Amino acid sequence: MNSDLSVKTLTLSNPYKIKKMGTSGLRQKQEVYNQPLFLEQFVQGAASYFSEITERENIAENNKTILLGGDPRMSNKKRIDTIARILIGNGFRVMIAKKGLASTPAMSNGICKLKVAGGIILTASHNPYTDVGIKINNADGSPALEEAANRMHDLQNSVSEVKIADQSALNNGKYTEYVDIIKLYTELLDKIFDFNEMKSDLKKFNLKGAFDPMFGAGGPFAEAVFIDALGMDTRMIRSEPREDLGGRDEKGEPLHPEPDFDYIKELIQLNGSGGYDIVSAWDSDVDRRLNGGSGFFVESADEFTLFAKYSDLINIETLFENTIYFCRSTVTADTIDKMENFLKSKFSRREVKIVETPTGFKWIAELGNWGVEESNGVGNPYIREKDGIFASVFLLKILLKTGKTVKELVEDIWKEFGRVYFTRGEISGSDDTEKEQLARILNNAAEFEGKRFKTLTLESAGSWDYIHPVTGKTASKGAAWVLKFSSGNTIKARFSGTGSSGYTLRVYCSKYDTRYDIPKSHITQPMKEAFDEFLRAGGFNRKSEKYIDANQPDIYKR
Ligand code: G1P
Ligand code: ZN
Repeated sequence: MNSDLSVKTLTLSNPYKIKKMGTSGLRQKQEVYNQPLFLEQFVQGAASYFSEITERENIAENNKTILLGGDPRMSNKKRIDTIARILIGNGFRVMIAKKGLASTPAMSNGICKLKVAGGIILTASHNPYTDVGIKINNADGSPALEEAANRMHDLQNSVSEVKIADQSALNNGKYTEYVDIIKLYTELLDKIFDFNEMKSDLKKFNLKGAFDPMFGAGGPFAEAVFIDALGMDTRMIRSEPREDLGGRDEKGEPLHPEPDFDYIKELIQLNGSGGYDIVSAWDSDVDRRLNGGSGFFVESADEFTLFAKYSDLINIETLFENTIYFCRSTVTADTIDKMENFLKSKFSRREVKIVETPTGFKWIAELGNWGVEESNGVGNPYIREKDGIFASVFLLKILLKTGKTVKELVEDIWKEFGRVYFTRGEISGSDDTEKEQLARILNNAAEFEGKRFKTLTLESAGSWDYIHPVTGKTASKGAAWVLKFSSGNTIKARFSGTGSSGYTLRVYCSKYDTRYDIPKSHITQPMKEAFDEFLRAGGFNRKSEKYIDANQPDIYKR
């Protein structure tokens, strides 16, 4: 041991039973993470995991470094210090994002650029500040997959002692280095999009932007990109990172730093004014986005079709060896699927595959990270995470290249390929027997085949398994229930894997139509009603309530 390092051993007399990491790390309430020695036990398990992989991969002793950073939520900065001390106590060096502040995509990029052995990202993403989350990422910047989560879970639950370095290790450059993660990230975007070119186009066309980082990690990143690097005429709202991510609403409920219509009232107003060519909101760790402009908001899946159409602007062919994978999660609107022939002829020198994946971006990440989720996540194929600011800059680049508005761009796609009308609802509660009942009804849905629910007939019911496009094996079973109703009306459902308590059944309605300008509710309402009726027939009496209409207001009124 080095003489300048003092390491203590903490003995856990009563270790916790730590849950396995879910869709995106381990999310728990503040009170859970704040229990004495809980974080310490969690991190000791993660440190043992990192020790195993660095050993297995023969990583040189001096490269045993882990990158740390996260969103600004309450106590994260303090947690980063504790995590750093435990990693150092376990023989690692740490690099810490300045002020502890980093977006998930910037961490992914930082892990690669700094060539570290992995990263720990502190964020509960779009959940309110009352939740805490910790994600573990691999040396290539991607989130830990199932196998890693299992191993870590075992290790975390067999911890009896925690090795923790003294506070002074955080001020010793030999063990701790503070890094400018924002600069590294801005350099990445510059390489992808060519900021000089965009800057001069912006001068010519004078586009204006309004951006809402929702008091999360995004503010300093957005300022660095849109104001400092691009010199854009920019209106920023809620841009300073805050511990309480905006605090509570008038009813006393904590605000969700989530770019959904429910939570971005001011941005909706600004967009409605028509004075901004591009508007964006990002969640707390900036891996989700909601984009729009000139009075229009664009749905996640629709925006991805736009990105697919213009993917040569980001040199997509250079990023994939043989096959270019365009991915969407199974519950996401399948508009990209309608573009298959177009993409095949556009990228004729490569094989093009459209892949339907389970929920969780890790499935898209492993195929090259070029894909989309309905929950406002889109990949940046230069890294291995979703990336909100990447999406906004890409949209801006397309606006500058085409001279069209966001609405014109999306309508062009719908006119050419048709439109998938889509909405997402949910039923949530805290009662486990309700959850079991819902699962039972959905598992037995085939019993209702041929039966009419309001205006729609259930034609088939089953569940969807993921056949991996590379291995050909079933990589995930029962990732969603699928109910096919008459006339192409499709409802999918699955339980949320990111909540910190209770259950949430997510309900997804979609229908393809070659006409694009029908008021959305005309198409989605019959599906909502049919699904509620179907649940009632199975004995469940609550309605699926929160339909956010997938962030697309009915712009086409009749
Ligand atoms: C939610 C989203 C899903 C996303 C995940 C992590 O998961 O629905 O698309 O991958 O957050 O950002 P869920 O709560 O539905 O399991
Ligand atoms: Zn997020």
